[in-house]
Amino acid sequence: MAMLGFDDEGARRLQRVYSTPDVVAQRAEVLRRLRPAAGEAVLDVGSGPGFLVAAIADAVGTDGVVRGLDPSPAMNAMASAYCADRSQVRIDDGDAGALPYPDGAFDAVVSTQVYEYVADVLGALVEVRRVLRPGGRFVVLDTDWESMVWHAADRELHRRVLEAWEEHLVDPRLPRVLPGLLERAGFRVVERVLIPLFNPVYDENTYSAGTIEVIGDFVTGRQGLTEQDVARWADDLRSRGTDYLFTINRYCFVATS
Ligand SMILES: C[S@@+](CC[C@H](N)C(=O)[O-])C[C@H]1O[C@@H](n2cnc3c(N)ncnc32)[C@H](O)[C@@H]1O
Repeated sequence: MAMLGFDDEGARRLQRVYSTPDVVAQRAEVLRRLRPAAGEAVLDVGSGPGFLVAAIADAVGTDGVVRGLDPSPAMNAMASAYCADRSQVRIDDGDAGALPYPDGAFDAVVSTQVYEYVADVLGALVEVRRVLRPGGRFVVLDTDWESMVWHAADRELHRRVLEAWEEHLVDPRLPRVLPGLLERAGFRVVERVLIPLFNPVYDENTYSAGTIEVIGDFVTGRQGLTEQDVARWADDLRSRGTDYLFTINRYCFVATS
């Protein structure tokens, strides 16, 4: 797997995409399932820009404890700055495979768009179960990248772009096996929720418009894709107007330990 740039520029780009109404609505759906309550201790694995951490902190209040964990220094700097006025929050440097917390430390754990980047998902889920108290809640969300529908003119070029894009993930179709892995890690899956993102017209302030830039940057130079190929692919999507269409499915699983 080639790592997506979760450096300063990558973090800023992700922050923009994750501020769009599409991803704001997705976070609200995840929060609704996580149900953080006043005074609880909650962990966000792979906390990225820290938007979900902040929302959880507001729900648990100053008597609660919220930890965000991420291996990217750029992401952690961004999340720490974003949550700076919330004393119940600490952002820690670390990896999903070895959570730096004691057994049973949390009432709830959440992780969105992270395990598709993790090599040993089962091991990471076992770690989540270890740091949850008995009966604790776990909400996990990932994308099946094959669920993406995007109205591109040159289907062969589009196929090559998406094939190159998948190089940044360990498992681009993780949701298909996540419930089974959760059960093997000792969880009971209690809810399965489909969260589609739908952009029926081209609009700069959408998930897909921002993602054109993220994908374009990553795939240039991979699988023989030149700058010109990628510019042609991006220009076509951006100029589709009312013929534009984008959808992708997120899969959210709620489990108890
Ligand atoms: C697509 S972003 C999602 C960020 C955040 N969870 C959200 O939904 O807003 C993926 C995040 O996972 C982090 N990540 C990648 N590999 C990881 C690992 N092995 N353990 C923990 N986090 C990881 C990245 O640094 C990045 O912040």
